[in-house]
Amino acid sequence: MAESQLRALAAEITKLADSFATSLQEKGLPEASFSVDSPISHKGITAEMFMTRQTLSDKLTDMWYLVQGPSESIYNYVHNVIPDAACLNVLNHFNFWEAVPLEGSASYSEIAEHVSLPLDVVTRLVQHATTLRLFEEISSSQVKHTSRSAALAQQAGLQALVSSVLDITGAPMVSTLDSFMAPFDMAMSSALEKYSKGKPELTQDMSETAFALFHSTGPLGKKHTNSWEYLENDGEGDRRGWRQAKFVEFMKYLKDIFHLEGIVLDSYDWQAAGKSTVVDVGGSAGHDAILLARKYPDLKLIVQDMPMVKPVFEAELPDDVRDRVSFVEHDLYQPQPTQADIYIFKLILHDNSESECAKILKALTPGLRPGNRVIVIEYIGKVDEGESESESDAKKEPLPLSIRQMGTATDLRMMAIFNAKERPAEAYRSIFKAADERFDIVSLKADPLTFFAVIEAVWRG
Ligand SMILES: C[S@@+](CC[C@H](N)C(=O)[O-])C[C@H]1O[C@@H](n2cnc3c(N)ncnc32)[C@H](O)[C@@H]1O
Repeated sequence: MAESQLRALAAEITKLADSFATSLQEKGLPEASFSVDSPISHKGITAEMFMTRQTLSDKLTDMWYLVQGPSESIYNYVHNVIPDAACLNVLNHFNFWEAVPLEGSASYSEIAEHVSLPLDVVTRLVQHATTLRLFEEISSSQVKHTSRSAALAQQAGLQALVSSVLDITGAPMVSTLDSFMAPFDMAMSSALEKYSKGKPELTQDMSETAFALFHSTGPLGKKHTNSWEYLENDGEGDRRGWRQAKFVEFMKYLKDIFHLEGIVLDSYDWQAAGKSTVVDVGGSAGHDAILLARKYPDLKLIVQDMPMVKPVFEAELPDDVRDRVSFVEHDLYQPQPTQADIYIFKLILHDNSESECAKILKALTPGLRPGNRVIVIEYIGKVDEGESESESDAKKEPLPLSIRQMGTATDLRMMAIFNAKERPAEAYRSIFKAADERFDIVSLKADPLTFFAVIEAVWRG
């Protein structure tokens, strides 16, 4: 009898789960569970434990595919993926998380009253959510939190992540455009059909994205040309800017989950920078500028971002750095108005196509003086692609699919929203070169396990 692949996979899963559980124990870290008192995340795991966890995730996914078989695994995926995402989005939008106490439980009627939706709708949504281990039914009318729904109840940043990612990309990536170009119905297919089919490369025009197509021709009937403009302008009256505030929260949350404080602090020898002026271009509500200001009292920091970010910056700026951190509204595609020693671009360029990136960097050049620096801190979704072709690298184990997927998923989101892409760190060399030959790249560091690259360029003048 042929060896069972299922059994072999199960054995690997057992081994990897044992290794992960043992290393958690050795480090004194608690295991996650489904109960409300579970740790919210596996904070403190080492790089090696992270790799074990992701390899285990790969094996579990393979097991899922294999036990269902090729066609049913696809059918089941397609059947669930949109209702799963929509259910999470609706629960988040109406803040179901708050409707159930962390300790104890709530009835469906109590939840319905809290979220102001019909009882039948609430019951159906929560019943689907329980299949995703979000809430648990403890009787036919009563539900309590699981660790996953409790994590959302406890973390405004996680709520902001769900809302920002699903609201911005959900509809443009998967929604149907009303009888537009049938049979290519989904907005992303329609955008590719309309703007890129038959061409050697994806269009780099930000007005030719799935996002722009959805928002200009879709059922919302609005005219948002790109997602930044949507974040700025969605909402009437006092509500305008609410999406920017959520996005700021999302960015702060990303900083926590990717441990970006260390990356920002190590991105340059800030001590040696002395009394420098630093501009954080697209610096959100200043979370990185505040970090640097607190650690390096000689630095003066200017945060530049879009107008609706300013009220969030002003509300959140701590008193201890008020004299050294300020906010200036500035469109990063326009000539840079501020003379500084160092310009930071963190998580800006991967939101842009090559030609837009070159435009952004070029916008700095009229005011640059020799020796001025540009620090690019960038998510590198395509970590193991085109980095090096040495023989030892060729023999390296490929990264687990679950890690690659973090990059490929972001990459497709970038395609749908901006016609941009995830790039290997090396690609930033040619982006600087295309912007201006007088930028010298003096350092380029990429760490696949942090998913981040830091590129430092000096203006030769
Ligand atoms: C992905 S976020 C990165 C934020 C911050 N640098 C960080 O790492 O947390 C991109 C930022 O660029 C800002 N942005 C986008 N387009 C802009 C523009 N045309 N002018 C100025 N800021 C812009 C957004 O408002 C947002 O804060």
